[in-house]
Amino acid sequence: MENRIEKIKKMQKEKDVVILVHYYVDGAVQEIADYVGDSFYLSKVATQVTQQNILFCGVSFMGESAKILNPEKNVVMADAHADCPMAHMVTVEQIEQVRKENPDVAVVCYVNSTAEIKAVSDVCVTSSNAVKVVKNLPEQNIFFVPDNNLGRYVAKQLPEKHFIFHDGFCHVHKSIHAENVKAAKEAHPEALVLTHPECTEDVIELSDFVGSTSEIIDYATKSDADRFIICTEMGVFFELQQKNPEKKFYSVGHRQFCPNMKKVTLERVEEALEKMQPYVEVPQDVLEAAAKPLKRMLELAA
Ligand code: 13P
Ligand code: SF4
Repeated sequence: MENRIEKIKKMQKEKDVVILVHYYVDGAVQEIADYVGDSFYLSKVATQVTQQNILFCGVSFMGESAKILNPEKNVVMADAHADCPMAHMVTVEQIEQVRKENPDVAVVCYVNSTAEIKAVSDVCVTSSNAVKVVKNLPEQNIFFVPDNNLGRYVAKQLPEKHFIFHDGFCHVHKSIHAENVKAAKEAHPEALVLTHPECTEDVIELSDFVGSTSEIIDYATKSDADRFIICTEMGVFFELQQKNPEKKFYSVGHRQFCPNMKKVTLERVEEALEKMQPYVEVPQDVLEAAAKPLKRMLELAA
């Protein structure tokens, strides 16, 4: 293992590569990251790094966003098959249809979408900035794609806007049920419940705090409380425990496992650095069109 990490560090330096890692990727990979964070932080960092090559340890849509925001850089994925199923749940035709029926609608696209979907959207959002970005939009009518749970969570904070929802979902967060939260609360009555907004409304209602992966980690770190039930993917436990060795973090007890994020391992990182492949490629017209909503998000969330 020591050898592999040394090899990775050496290749990284020789090949001028920065390593970006999402919080859901295995802790061993988070440990070798130059930057680790939520999807908003990683897309901002991607615009600031000086290296010519970005090695992305996460799922496809994250690498695509890094490429779209940095077309002159090479973006390499640690694992070509790590893909978020939600990113493929909405179609261009569905968006066109809603636009036809509602010409004044703003299409708000959760970053967990393909480049083709971003290219036909008005603005992108992540879980950490969705409320702020939608609030700052001049349009009153919003078509929120694809995550139904995040869309409904945002709509609740912004009663002045009118929402049309898509029916996309994250299978990992959707499989955390209110019963799981109730059982975890019974087992740990003193613990606060921290939840990702991709969870269902009944889970959110049982929560003390709702936020993105980074926001959950920040909340637990700054809180005076020392026990927490975590309702999101298990990868966040690594950073939670690193930052708060004296605090206790409990699983909500049900499948907090994203099989795609977990495809990224140190072996994959080593292979990707050796081959400097697979590259992220986005057709030029799609890239240019998708850059607009992503850049608009960065402006509106600033
Ligand atoms: P964050 O934006 O909180 O990092 O979440 C990304 C994601 O894939 C959630 O399932
Ligand atoms: Fe996609 Fe859900 Fe995995 Fe996030 S946790 S990458 S939304 S499947």
